[in-house]
Amino acid sequence: MSNKFDEIETRIEKILNREKDKIKEKVKDSEYYKVRQLAFDTGTLRSLLKLFNKGVLTDISWIINSGKESVVLAGEGPQGEVAVKVYRIYTANFKRYIHYINGDYRFRAPKDKRKIVLTWAKKEYRNLRRMELFGVRVPKPIDVVGNILVMEFIGKNGIPAPLLKDVELESPKRYLMDILENIRKMYMEASLVHGDLSEYNIMIWKDLPWIIDVSQAVVVSHPNSFSLLISDIRRITSFFKKRYRINLPDPYKIANELVSGK
Ligand SMILES: Nc1ncnc2c1ncn2[C@@H]1O[C@H](COP(=O)(O)OP(=O)(O)O)[C@@H](O)[C@H]1O
Ligand SMILES: [Mg+2]
Repeated sequence: MSNKFDEIETRIEKILNREKDKIKEKVKDSEYYKVRQLAFDTGTLRSLLKLFNKGVLTDISWIINSGKESVVLAGEGPQGEVAVKVYRIYTANFKRYIHYINGDYRFRAPKDKRKIVLTWAKKEYRNLRRMELFGVRVPKPIDVVGNILVMEFIGKNGIPAPLLKDVELESPKRYLMDILENIRKMYMEASLVHGDLSEYNIMIWKDLPWIIDVSQAVVVSHPNSFSLLISDIRRITSFFKKRYRINLPDPYKIANELVSGK
């Protein structure tokens, strides 16, 4: 076990060093090591090793996104390309996590901070599974171990597909309608509300919108679910109005129509 562990640690080290070269001018050494330490502590490396041992992962190539709460890597699995989302333990927004975990009958927030992050990763996995089951267009979830989620890669050759905010759509109305239909399916069929839907969490791939970043999605019985639904619809319609001058009724009206099946 320890040999393989060292191997993975070395591999991560290499990937991080490549990143470091890329951002060298911006980050001081000491700061860089702090960042590295924060995302890839021993527990995280162990979970990564487990994914390799299970055969879920056969390779990891580079970091495609490094945010405050997670790091997303491009990798390979037996079925092809995968995205590996590593939730950060130390810079997690625990308050936010607890709010979305409690109130969702499927989960209960543990006392231990580290465990809260593990629950958060599992929550994203379970949400993806449930959405996929009901035909919501999301990356196919593959596995979750500790704070690491493995899912289908949206994009090709390790290059992620662009986000909705970064493309110029030729037929924006079609995408808007498709997104609203996915919100409807999510609510009416999967009984879930995304809760953070926006042009930042929709990828455009194969001429279709793909919904990502679903860790905070809650069941409709969550006390805030309806207001979360309204905010999701508001962010989407405002974006299409601002960028593409498409006018739609107010979010409450749309929500009522989606919910009543009109
Ligand atoms: N399944 C995926 N395939 C390819 N790229 C992905 C995938 N999931 C996430 N990404 C990339 O990683 C970025 C961050 O992922 P996201 O789930 O939105 O995490 P967060 O916003 O919490 O950091 C996305 O904007 C996208 O570029
Ligand atoms: Mg996001």
